[in-house]
Amino acid sequence: MKSTFSILALAALGSAQKGNFPAKGDGDFAGGIFGISLTDLSGVMMKSGMDKFFGTGSESPKGAKQGTIQSTPGSGPYPAKWFTDPSLPRHVIYAPKTPPPVKMPVVAWGNGACGMDGTGFANFLLEIASHGYLVIADGPPGGGSGGQSKVQDMRDSFEWAIKGNAAKLGDIDTSKIAAAGQSCGGHEAYSVSYHDPRVKLTMLFNMGIYQDNKRYLLQELKAPVAYFLGGPKDTGYPNGEKDYPLLPKGLPAFKAVLDTGHLGTYWATNGGKSGKAAVAYLEWQFRGDAKSKAICLDPASPGSLVSDHWNVTYKNWT
Ligand SMILES: *[C@@H]1O[C@H](CO)[C@@H](O)[C@H](O)[C@H]1NC(C)=O
Repeated sequence: MKSTFSILALAALGSAQKGNFPAKGDGDFAGGIFGISLTDLSGVMMKSGMDKFFGTGSESPKGAKQGTIQSTPGSGPYPAKWFTDPSLPRHVIYAPKTPPPVKMPVVAWGNGACGMDGTGFANFLLEIASHGYLVIADGPPGGGSGGQSKVQDMRDSFEWAIKGNAAKLGDIDTSKIAAAGQSCGGHEAYSVSYHDPRVKLTMLFNMGIYQDNKRYLLQELKAPVAYFLGGPKDTGYPNGEKDYPLLPKGLPAFKAVLDTGHLGTYWATNGGKSGKAAVAYLEWQFRGDAKSKAICLDPASPGSLVSDHWNVTYKNWT
């Protein structure tokens, strides 16, 4: 009995390694095919200890309460607000208060734990929106009826924009869509990007794949991938570090690591250093902004991520 089981398990692993790729990324649970079941996750938590999920590092903001919602509109040139729309009831929308004089890329956001709380990362998302972005987060304000988001929830965000529903907010550039998320939301971002050419950037915050036997899925990613990791105290750090070298040959990738543990600096005013790094990366990628590119890549540039104490690695950018 036991040996039959291992032969079957080996056969399954073999076919996975030969490239038995699911057509879609949705999978069976929150986070999709790149994700981890809650049962397996509780095993990880038992093994690693809860500090890898809730601990802090030398760069963690002091006194920033998780889930806090600032009343200020972000530091960018287009003061932002958050709101809901009856045509997208499972989400919160972040956008400049008045239509900005620039085309707005779209960022679809998945929360930590794939939580259905669209204001759970409000400070960080307001900051991104204030630079002229349409950001749409999974979940109604404050969590509503709870539960976890599905891959389709993140897809719904940008499909809502593609259908023209955001036209009243400004000139939306649906050729520039990023899938982004923290922790389980990062798995969701991977799974949404998978086999979907509409997604042009994949951004993972404090996450990578947990299971070695799923890493073959990385071969199918087509959009540049960026990792923002919290260093050795972050449960997502070893996963992101393992994924980065396994991305498809030639695919542009970026990895920035700051000693914050798993929770980044999202609840500092304007999302703190995590907010600044996300904006610099997006402005470089989606607007070709030279100053933002230098902040990301050139340690000697004023206000560089390296001067903020991020360890930065990248590959395949021209
Ligand atoms: C950044 O790199 C330095 C030098 O390798 C290392 O000592 C430090 O732990 C790294 N920081 C993080 C947060 O990983």
